[in-house]
Amino acid sequence: MQIEALAAAAREARRRAYCPYSRYAVGAALLSADGEIFTGCNIENATQGPGICAERTALYKAVSEGVREFAAIAVAGGPADGPEDPGCAPCGVCRQALAEFCRPDLVVILAGPEGCRVYTLGEIFPFAFRLEK
Ligand code: THU
Repeated sequence: MQIEALAAAAREARRRAYCPYSRYAVGAALLSADGEIFTGCNIENATQGPGICAERTALYKAVSEGVREFAAIAVAGGPADGPEDPGCAPCGVCRQALAEFCRPDLVVILAGPEGCRVYTLGEIFPFAFRLEK
């Protein structure tokens, strides 16, 4: 697992965030089971509702390309003109979206200015709701 490489991809994606309303820029990098990296950024909207988080942008890019098996996701976020916020973690909606496609052992990397903190999806989102498929 290339934690620093995935965090770097999330930081790069953060530069592409479209966040004129919150001025909070987030990037995500999702590593597939095959080793492919899908990146995403948050994309806001004047009417708020259509806005989407970086994590779901990355996830939906991957799923729409036919990729459904994942190993890890890195997230880097913070004020658009400032340093990373070490507390930037996937929101509840993104945790549920990830739980649809990822096992509880998905590695979740939170990139911060002092380095990365590493968790699993099961740790940050216990008792996920799943329907038997
Ligand atoms: N946001 C993300 O993209 N991912 C997170 O993990 C937390 C929040 C976005 C949503 C919104 O565009 C901005 O950050 C402020 O909430």
